[in-house]
Amino acid sequence: MSSDVLIASNRGPVSFSLSDDGTLTMRRGGGGLVSGLSEALKGSDLLWVCAALSDGDRGAVRLAPGGRLDQAGHDAGRLRMLDIPPATFHRAYNAVANSTLWFVNHLLYNTPTAPRFDARFRREWASYQEYNGAFALALAEEAAHGAKVMIQDYHLTLAPAMLRAVRPDVRISHFSHTPWAPPEYFSLLPDDVAAEVLSGILGADHAGFLTYRWADAFMDCCAAILGARVDRAARTVTHRGRTTRVGVHGLGVDGDALRARASEPDVEARITALKQQVGDRRLIVRVDRTELSKNIVRGLMAYREFLAEHPEWHGKVVHLAFAYPSRHDLPEYREYTAAVQRCAKEIEDTYATEEWDPLILSVYDDYPRSLAAYRLADVLLVNPIRDGMNLVAKEGPILSSRCALVLSREAGAAAELGADALLVNPFDISGTAAALHEALVMPEDERAERCARLRIAAAALPPRQWLAEQIAALS
Ligand code: G6P
Repeated sequence: MSSDVLIASNRGPVSFSLSDDGTLTMRRGGGGLVSGLSEALKGSDLLWVCAALSDGDRGAVRLAPGGRLDQAGHDAGRLRMLDIPPATFHRAYNAVANSTLWFVNHLLYNTPTAPRFDARFRREWASYQEYNGAFALALAEEAAHGAKVMIQDYHLTLAPAMLRAVRPDVRISHFSHTPWAPPEYFSLLPDDVAAEVLSGILGADHAGFLTYRWADAFMDCCAAILGARVDRAARTVTHRGRTTRVGVHGLGVDGDALRARASEPDVEARITALKQQVGDRRLIVRVDRTELSKNIVRGLMAYREFLAEHPEWHGKVVHLAFAYPSRHDLPEYREYTAAVQRCAKEIEDTYATEEWDPLILSVYDDYPRSLAAYRLADVLLVNPIRDGMNLVAKEGPILSSRCALVLSREAGAAAELGADALLVNPFDISGTAAALHEALVMPEDERAERCARLRIAAAALPPRQWLAEQIAALS
C-alpha cells in the first residue's frame, strides 16, 4: 500500500541492539527531532523512512519485508528502515553530515587547520550523494500519487531535488533543525558542493527553518551563491524556473506530556537522590548532548570564574552538569568529552571541600535524572555557540515554576524566550559568570513571573501542531 504522507530522517523513532545470542531488543530513538516527532506521530498513519544506524538496526531490517519494520511485527508505527551499506553510511553520516555540514552551520571550524576539501572529501561527498539517492528512491517507491513528503535536516539536503526528478507529482518539504550559516561562512564549502546543497533543498516546494534568522541566512546563501531570485517580503526563492517557499516554524514542547512524564516514580526517586546529594544548596543545572556546539567547556569556565569572584557562594551552590554521550565515532567529540572532564576536575581540585562538592558532572544518559534536575533547578544554563532551537531551554521552564534561564543569544530559542531569559554572548565567559550570579540572586517574585512567561512561550508550538503546519504548508 502506498502512502499519502511520508516523513524522512536519518535517525528513526526506534533503534535495535543485538545481544550475543542474536536476540534483538528495540528501544525508542533519542535526540530532539525524533523525540518531538515520535510523540506527534502517535496514532497517525504516516510512513516514516529512516536509515539503519547500527548492526542491530541492520539485523532487524534484514528480517523485515522491504525494510518495513511494522510489517515484521515491531510496534514502531509505519516504518521503513533503509539498510545503506555501512561504509557509505559512515561517510555520509560522520564525514559529511556531522563533520562538514554540521560544522559549517554551527560555525565550528578552527579555520587555520580545518576544513580541508581534498580527494578524500570527494569520496565522502559521493557517499553522501548515494545515501541521499537511497532515500529518494525509497520515498519514490512508497509515495502515492500526489503524496506529501517531509524530508528532515542536514543529512538529507539533496534528497528533495533527487525525489522531484523522479516523482514530479509529489509535494515535498524540507526542514532544517539546525541553524544556517551566513554566506561568507557557508562559502567555505567547495563551490559545487555549496550549490548542490542549496539547490537540493530548493527541489522542495517548502523549505522550513526554526527561526527567521536561519531562514534569512538560507535565503542570503541562495542569492549570493546560486544567484537565485529572493523575494524577502514574500519569503520565496526562485531558481531555474521553480519557486520554493521559505517558512519559519519554531518547534516547541508538549507541556502536558512532559509534565506527566516528569511526575512518574522514576523521576521522583531521582529527585530524592539528588536532594540527598546536594542538601539545601542552590542548583545551577545544564543538560546537553556532549556536543561541540553546546559550549560545555566555556560553561564550566564561567562557573569557575563565578566561584572565584563570589566566595560568599562557596558551600552554598552546586552545578549539576549532565552531558550525555553523542557521536562518539568522531575523534573531535571524544576529545571534547575529555576536555569537559579535565575542566571539571580543575574546578573540583580548586574548590571542593570535605563537606561541599561544587560540581557534579555526569557524562551518562539518565533521562529521568535530567527531568528531576529541571524540577529542582534554581538556574538553568543553556549557552550554545549556536543552536537551531534548543529544547532544553524550553523544557526547563515547563517543569519549574521558579527557575531563572541563562541563555545564549546564539540559540534559536532566544528569539522566543529572550525577553524573559538572561541573555549571554556564549564566548564571553565573564559575562556568563555575571549572569549566573544575577540568576542566583534574582528575587522570588521576578523568578516566578519570568518563568510563567517562559512556560507559555515554550509550549507555543508543540510537536503535533508543528507537524500539522508542515503538512498544511504542502496543501
Ligand atoms: C540534532 C539534529 C538531529 C539529530 C540530533 C541527534 O538535533 O538536528 O537531526 O538527530 O541532533 O544527533 P544524532 O547524530 O545522534 O542523530
